[in-house]
Formats: sequence, C-alpha cells, structure tokens
Amino acid sequence: MNKLPKHVAIIMDGNGRWANLQGKNRVSGHQQGAKSVREVVEEAVKMEIEFLTLYAFSTDNWSRPMEEVSLLMKLLVNSLKKEFKRLIKNNIRLQSIGNMDRLPNPVKEELSYVIEKTKNNTGMVLTLALNYGAKEEFTAAVKAIAFKVKNSIISPEKVDQSTIIEHLYTRNLPAVDLLIRTSGEERISNFLLWHIAYAELYFTRTLWPDFKKEDLQKALVDYTKRERRFGKTSEQLTS
Ligand code: FPP
Repeated sequence: MNKLPKHVAIIMDGNGRWANLQGKNRVSGHQQGAKSVREVVEEAVKMEIEFLTLYAFSTDNWSRPMEEVSLLMKLLVNSLKKEFKRLIKNNIRLQSIGNMDRLPNPVKEELSYVIEKTKNNTGMVLTLALNYGAKEEFTAAVKAIAFKVKNSIISPEKVDQSTIIEHLYTRNLPAVDLLIRTSGEERISNFLLWHIAYAELYFTRTLWPDFKKEDLQKALVDYTKRERRFGKTSEQLTS
C-alpha cells in the first residue's frame, strides 16, 4: 500500500450544476462550494497532507458572465477574511499561483495580507490557483528564461528541468501525487501540467458542494491502493 499522498490537488467542479439541481442561482453554488473548501482543508490538515492545491479560478473563467465573476471575487475576499483565524489556528501557510496582475485590488490586498501573516506557519501549505493556467505559466517561464539567456545570465547548454521548474509559479511545490476532479468531468483543463506528470488521477461524480470529508477520505484510500511505477515494472518495485 502507498503512504498517504504528500501533495493533493483538486479541481473543484460542479458548483453551477449543484445550484441548478437545487433551483438556485449559480452564486449560491459557489457559496456552498466555499463550505466544502473549509471542510476539505480541515480534513486535509487532520490527515497530515503536506500540500493542498485548489483550482479556484482559471484563466478561462474570465469569460463567464461578468456578474458571476465579480461575485466569485467577492466570495474569495470574504472567505479569506472569514477563514483567516482558522488558517492561523490550523498552522496553515497560504500561497497563491497564477497571474495576480489581473485580479481586482481587494482580492490582491486580502490575499497578500493573509499570505504575509501565514508565511511562518509550519503546517500544511494551502495553494490557491487564481487566474491560473498551466500554458500561461509555461509561456511566462520560457519568456523569463529567454531573457536570461539573451542577457548571458544563463547559458543555453545549462537549461535543464530544474531551470524550468525554478521559473514556474509552482516552483516551491513538489510533484502532485493525487489529482481529484469532482462532478464527473474527466479532464485536466490546463491545471498544473508540469507537476501532474506522474499524478494518480481520481474522478468522482460528486458535485463540489457535496464533496465532504468522507469523500476526501475515500479518494485517499483509493490512492493508497494504486501501484505507482514511475516507468518501472511491478517486479522492480517489489525487489
Ligand atoms: C467550478 O464549478 C467552480 C469554480 C469555477 C469556482 C470555484 C470556487 C469555489 C469553490 C468557491 C470559493 C473558493 C474558495 C477558495 C474560498 P462550475 O461553476 O464550473 O460548475 P458547473 O460546471 O456545474 O457549472
């Protein structure tokens, strides 16, 4: 059996469908989704997961109706304010990945505040992917490396995997061990492409607002039963 994963990443999908099924508007789906975030974060702390990364807003989500985008941003600010004490109590270090430039000022300000205040916490690292897209992340990394090569800061022969990793938003995250996507969709949707190279994928039909601590436990148990070969044979793993 595998040990529990060190790094769990989640694509929290299905808020809109959950709301639809309840005859409510999409925003109440996101509000309910924020409650699942709280429960799953606390459970991950209890299970001693070291890194939890949540896809909260993708670079493609800007194309949603303006009202939904703005309410999602407000929900983020409110959640950060509301959950701040709980993050401290649980010794969680918050960080974010993605291009922060385009985020509204109140989100940037609240996020920077919480990141600063939790930076010395030594427990779980909670990473929020906000305005994040892996292709955009790679493009920014290639651009930064190209400039360094042009200015003779790096020699082209020296460019290797670690050079690339150092230029990603995700530079201080280990490889993802377990990637969970809720709501029955079985896609990656531009999330953490580099770090999921050897991740175990777990898809569940449960909609994100219904995803609770028991559902996280189920995914973790499923993970412990998988054989992770990293390109080797089964025999090599047991010898
Ligand atoms: C996907 O459901 C969900 C999102 C795009 C946003 C995720 C946001 C939250 C869970 C709430 C707040 C987050 C934090 C970190 C406090 P969807 O709207 O795409 O659902 P659908 O596919 O059923 O329409």
